[in-house]
Amino acid sequence: MLQGQKALVTGANTGIGKAIAIALGKAGADVVVNYLDGDKAAIAAVAEIRDAGVKSFAHRADVGAEGDVAAMFDHIVREFGTLDILVANAGIQKDAAFSEMSLAQWEAVLKVNLTGQFLCARAAVGEFRRRGVKPEISRAAGKIICISSVHQVIPWAGHVNYAASKGAVKLMMESLAQEVAPQRIRVNAIAPGAVRTDINTAAWDTDTAMQSLLKLIPYGRIGEPDDIGKAAVWLASDDSDYVTGATLFVDGGMTLYPQFASGG
Ligand code: BGC
Repeated sequence: MLQGQKALVTGANTGIGKAIAIALGKAGADVVVNYLDGDKAAIAAVAEIRDAGVKSFAHRADVGAEGDVAAMFDHIVREFGTLDILVANAGIQKDAAFSEMSLAQWEAVLKVNLTGQFLCARAAVGEFRRRGVKPEISRAAGKIICISSVHQVIPWAGHVNYAASKGAVKLMMESLAQEVAPQRIRVNAIAPGAVRTDINTAAWDTDTAMQSLLKLIPYGRIGEPDDIGKAAVWLASDDSDYVTGATLFVDGGMTLYPQFASGG
C-alpha cells in the first residue's frame, strides 16, 4: 500500500508513534524513527520496522528546536532521497491545576505539541513542493498527519496547556490543509481517545481507574496503539486521496457525550 514511500514519524520510539511507525513499515514504507529520549527504545523500534523488510533508521532530534528539525530533514533527504509522509506525533503532558501551572510547564507542552508540529510540517511542505507529484509513488505530492487528541474538542481541567496545544493543532492543520491543497499536499489529523500508553498509565493501570475510564468510552474498551497505526496507514495511502483537512477521531466514541446516553 505504501511501497516506495518514505515516512517520518516523530516521537516514534514509544507509544502511539511506535505503533504508527511499525504499521507504516508493514504497509511497505521506509520509516525514520524520530525520538528525543530513549536510544534503546528507538533502536528496538527500528529493528521491529526492519523485520517488515523495509529500511529504517533512528534520528534523535528535539522537534521544538528549529536547528534540530533542519538537521533531521537534511539527514532524511541524504539517506532516503526525499520524504512522502510526515506523521507529527511527538507530544507530552505536564499536568497541573491551573493556578499552580508554571510558565515552564505551559511552554514545554506548547513547544513540543504545537511548535514541534509546525516546524516538522514546514520542513515537510518544503520537501514535498521541491519534489512534486511522482504518480508512480503516490497521487499526492505529500501527506501530513497531525496526531491531535480528543482534547482538541473536549475541554480538560487540570490539563489546560495540553488542551490548548491540541485545540491549536486542529486549526493549524485545517489552515495548512487549505493553503497547500493546490500543491497536492494532503494534511489531516487523527484524534486518539484514551489509548494504552505510558502517557496515561494512571488512567488504566488499576481496576478502579479503568472502571472510571470506561464510563467515558461508549465502545467499552481502551484503545490500543495499533488502532491508531491502522488509521495512519489509511490516511497516508492513496485510498484516502480525496481526504484533506479532516480529523479522524479514533476514540471508541469518547467524543459522543457519553454522559447523555440516558437522560438529558
Ligand atoms: C491524553 C491521554 C488521555 C486521553 C483521553 C489523550 O490525548 O494524552 O492522557 O487519556 O487523551 O482523555
